[in-house]
Amino acid sequence: MSRSILVTGGAGYIGSHTVLQLLLGGYKVVVVDKLDNSSEIAIKRVQELAGEHGSNLTFHEIDLRDKPAVEKLFVSEKFEAVIHVAGLKAVGESVQKPLLYYDNNLIGMIVLLEVMAAHGCKKLVFSSSATVYGWPKVVPCTEESPISATNPYGRTKSDSTWKIILLRYFNPVGAHPSGHIGEDPRGIPNNLIPFIQQVAVGRRPALTVYGTDYKTTDGTGVRDYIHVVDLADGHIAALKKLADPSVGCEVYNLGSGKGTSVLEMVAAFEKASGKKIPLVMADRRPGDAEIVYAETEKAERELNWKAKYGIQEFCRDQWNWATKNPYGYEPQAP
Ligand code: UFG
Repeated sequence: MSRSILVTGGAGYIGSHTVLQLLLGGYKVVVVDKLDNSSEIAIKRVQELAGEHGSNLTFHEIDLRDKPAVEKLFVSEKFEAVIHVAGLKAVGESVQKPLLYYDNNLIGMIVLLEVMAAHGCKKLVFSSSATVYGWPKVVPCTEESPISATNPYGRTKSDSTWKIILLRYFNPVGAHPSGHIGEDPRGIPNNLIPFIQQVAVGRRPALTVYGTDYKTTDGTGVRDYIHVVDLADGHIAALKKLADPSVGCEVYNLGSGKGTSVLEMVAAFEKASGKKIPLVMADRRPGDAEIVYAETEKAERELNWKAKYGIQEFCRDQWNWATKNPYGYEPQAP
């Protein structure tokens, strides 16, 4: 019988899509989430979308900092591996409330690692971010590109009994093609696509374009957008890789390898939705890089994984989710 995979943050945007792909792939999945920035409705919808596999999913509302609760979970069930996606992720908020971020993200991770170690579960897939590349001097970013942030997982490299894969996500976008699960940010969206989506459904008047003087084809910032279902599949590929005895601690970029500008994204979204997106041209946003996109060769070679979807599919699926759920998991305007 296949053992369970624990997915932390499994009710969120990346988590819910990953849980669905796991269930469809025949895995048993246990989700923990504290539902701060996510909804239990996502779990119910994943269960429905998984059909006959839906019964292989169980959910616990747990804060990872609550060590007795995490401990209890590991006593009640044996996990094959953990996919750790839980975390606060708003860049702006993290600057305003650094202690909240350290407390939530670091303490949560430490508790998780301690409990995993105590129960002999030492296989981990961790969601990292292309943010670590900062403003890259050279693109595409390879896994060896200099990083302007470090992470505590590196220290666990010294213990060869652990097997850890860090996935550096580029810019996840889109939604499940069913339109039943997708991204539902609380408050004003920080990211481009959720913002465009809210303009298209009439929740906001215009998109502010941050920076029109970058050295790019149309002057706007360039990013590597990746469909969330492709990203979810990247987690399954990483889990499979953990069975390889040679893996210690490995890093993989999960991106499409293609750069797309803000204006190209707006044009594609207008085409998919048939809606005009009014624009307000503005100064650069502090902290933003000019051009960031991934070298994807390592993931292709070692994980046997490659992004399948492109800009048309991102926009089609994002719009399908938006029209079916204009207020996300809430039934109407708050
Ligand atoms: N942008 C706008 N207007 C907006 C929002 C974004 O013009 O309202 C532009 C940005 O300037 C940038 C591009 O759209 O050029 C993408 O911006 P996002 O905020 O969507 O994404 P970022 O690349 O800035 O950062 C995101 C997440 C980070 C994550 C990083 C890399 O916010 O948490 O991708 O994975 F770490």
